[in-house]
Amino acid sequence: MTALTALRTTACTLLLSAAAPLAFAGSVTGRVDAGQPGPVIAPELYGQFMEQLGTGIDGGIWVGPDSDIPNTRGYRNDVLAALKELKVPVLRWPGGCYADIYDWRTGIGPRAKRPVTLNRWWGNKEEHNAFGTHEFFEFAELVGAKTFLNVNVGTGTPREAAQWVEYITSPTNSTLAQERRRNGREQPWKIDFLGIGNEPNGCGGRMRAETFADLFRQYSGFIAPHGGTTMIASGPDATDPAWTRTTMEIAGEHLDAFSMHYYTLPTGDWTTKGPATGFGEPEWRATFERTYMIEPMIQEQTAIMDEFDPEAEKALVIGEWGTWYDPTPGSPGGWLQQQNSIRDGLVAAVNLNIFHRNAKRLRAAGIAQMVNVLQAMLLTDGAKMVRTPTYHAFRMYRPFQGATSLPLALRSPDYGSLKAVDGTAARGSDGKLYVALVNLDPGEAMDVSLALEGAQATRVSGELLTADGLDAHNTFDAPETVRPVAFDGARLADGTLSARLPAKSLVVLTLE
Ligand code: AHR
Repeated sequence: MTALTALRTTACTLLLSAAAPLAFAGSVTGRVDAGQPGPVIAPELYGQFMEQLGTGIDGGIWVGPDSDIPNTRGYRNDVLAALKELKVPVLRWPGGCYADIYDWRTGIGPRAKRPVTLNRWWGNKEEHNAFGTHEFFEFAELVGAKTFLNVNVGTGTPREAAQWVEYITSPTNSTLAQERRRNGREQPWKIDFLGIGNEPNGCGGRMRAETFADLFRQYSGFIAPHGGTTMIASGPDATDPAWTRTTMEIAGEHLDAFSMHYYTLPTGDWTTKGPATGFGEPEWRATFERTYMIEPMIQEQTAIMDEFDPEAEKALVIGEWGTWYDPTPGSPGGWLQQQNSIRDGLVAAVNLNIFHRNAKRLRAAGIAQMVNVLQAMLLTDGAKMVRTPTYHAFRMYRPFQGATSLPLALRSPDYGSLKAVDGTAARGSDGKLYVALVNLDPGEAMDVSLALEGAQATRVSGELLTADGLDAHNTFDAPETVRPVAFDGARLADGTLSARLPAKSLVVLTLE
């Protein structure tokens, strides 16, 4: 090293070490009001959607009892264990668009004798129907989740739907209940949520709102689940206030819940949605801008339902939500395979924060979709499985399931047209206080200072999810690139919680 280089190196080191403690961070202030509890956050807001689509079920959940992949009666052990850890509250099946071409009779009885059908919506894939009614309800029992069954309105009949429900739920000696018993299930199952129709304006039958509302009246009049259920009327794809109003006017007295769908496309263009990886900051920012669009939609839907149901007895459901990108290059057409990066982990957190803020009316949701499809929790390839950043966000948010939401007010610097920091707070069923904070800014840390009103806490611990690159993600070869780590950057003093959030991060804090 020459004298000049040594001098430069020393000066540089001095500059860096002097700069480090003063590193610039945005400043966020706010307060949590623990004395003003809001609505309970329904655990079902953390629901999962699983459709007969690509490897979402076949290969991803179901491998069959004879598979070399370790399984329990045909269900992958690794997937089961990961889902149990997530505390999945409810599972929705069989679709989606697939629900409106599904004939339930193809999925019962000896598997070797089940017919092969074509999946018209998803790549015309040959469906062997190994995963049918018994497999779905048994899987839900293994996961410990409630059930959300979607009946076929597009190509089915009220008789078929009513018979399917009788087959599943009847404790009697009816011929259908006895058929269920002959197929191996003595006790009836419970259908916790029953979806009538799916996107009836599009893949569900190209209907007008009036047509669907009349059909809903008809179907709900014939379907009689034993043990009760929450009957859900489907909205169109995306939100349409006129559809909601028409449904409430014509069928409102017969429904328990109304479902909307909303997907985040970075470009907002269904022909070129944007890639799951290999994007820049403009696409990062646009993804969050489009994610936030769901909140005014929820509020608009809520306002319409309020007109008909001021006591909020009927629930709003977001039957499908999540990111939808261009498919992974080379993946089979119609299988909706996409990678999942730190961006998706933060999108999940932002959505969950929004759901908590609107929890009075919004009481169930289903991220699309649980395994291998769209914004998945888990990706599989043969015997390999990897947890995605979205999985980690859901796992970090577990204490919010069933917690009581608390008002959280934040003053945050802007990030483009958004606020850089978003958050949520709640009193968990274990009595602890939970605060989640998301920093969307990919280039700047944020110093957060929150006054805690009406709460005493002396200890804070937490978990952090962040990554180096904008599109950092987990692969089968590097499954731990994005994973939560313990967070020791939070402090409690004089009734104030302070924390430094790294750029592009999610932090979930436990206060006790
Ligand atoms: O989740 C994929 C598809 O998106 C569903 O089948 C449909 O309901 C929606 O359009």
